[in-house]
Amino acid sequence: MTISGLTPWYPWIKACHIIAVIAWMAALLYLPRLYVYHCETAPGSPESERFKIMEQRLLKQIATPAMAAAWTFGILLVLTPGVIDWGWGWWHVKLAAVIVLSGFHGILGRWRRDFLHDRNDRPQRFYRIVNEVPTLLMVVIVIMVVVRPF
Ligand code: HEM
Repeated sequence: MTISGLTPWYPWIKACHIIAVIAWMAALLYLPRLYVYHCETAPGSPESERFKIMEQRLLKQIATPAMAAAWTFGILLVLTPGVIDWGWGWWHVKLAAVIVLSGFHGILGRWRRDFLHDRNDRPQRFYRIVNEVPTLLMVVIVIMVVVRPF
């Protein structure tokens, strides 16, 4: 299903998609880094309370609205005639990677609540490792949409 009225707006929709994706990625790359630093603070300390505020603002004011915008403009691109052919392999890989990225976003929200209630029991090393997940997914997604290898 496509909507022909979207065709003249294609470059604008794509620009908005890329802007939203940049904001989403910036937040997803920084949030686990905040968790790494948060691990170094004592629960209840002023530093820990400040991290809680930073994490809440980054997730609720930037990451989640940016994810919603990236999905909205991405779906509008899918609905634009001639943009996506469901026979392309790269498109399926991109879609899968984006769904995993969205799941990772949800898990970051669960970990934020653990910090909020002073019940995080994961070590700093754990957050250092998961910090690489959004980077790896971003590399895969950008290669898929730009190189279109298959
Ligand atoms: C959130 C769900 C997403 C959907 C539904 C979606 C869908 C799409 C679609 C349909 C296009 C148009 C392709 C074309 O013009 O031929 C596109 C372009 C693009 N997407 Fe996404 N996308 C999503 C997320 C992302 C993410 C997370 C990234 C980067 C990490 C990304 C990076 C890009 C880039 C760079 C382009 C422009 C490629 C070009 O120049 O043609 N997208 N996206």
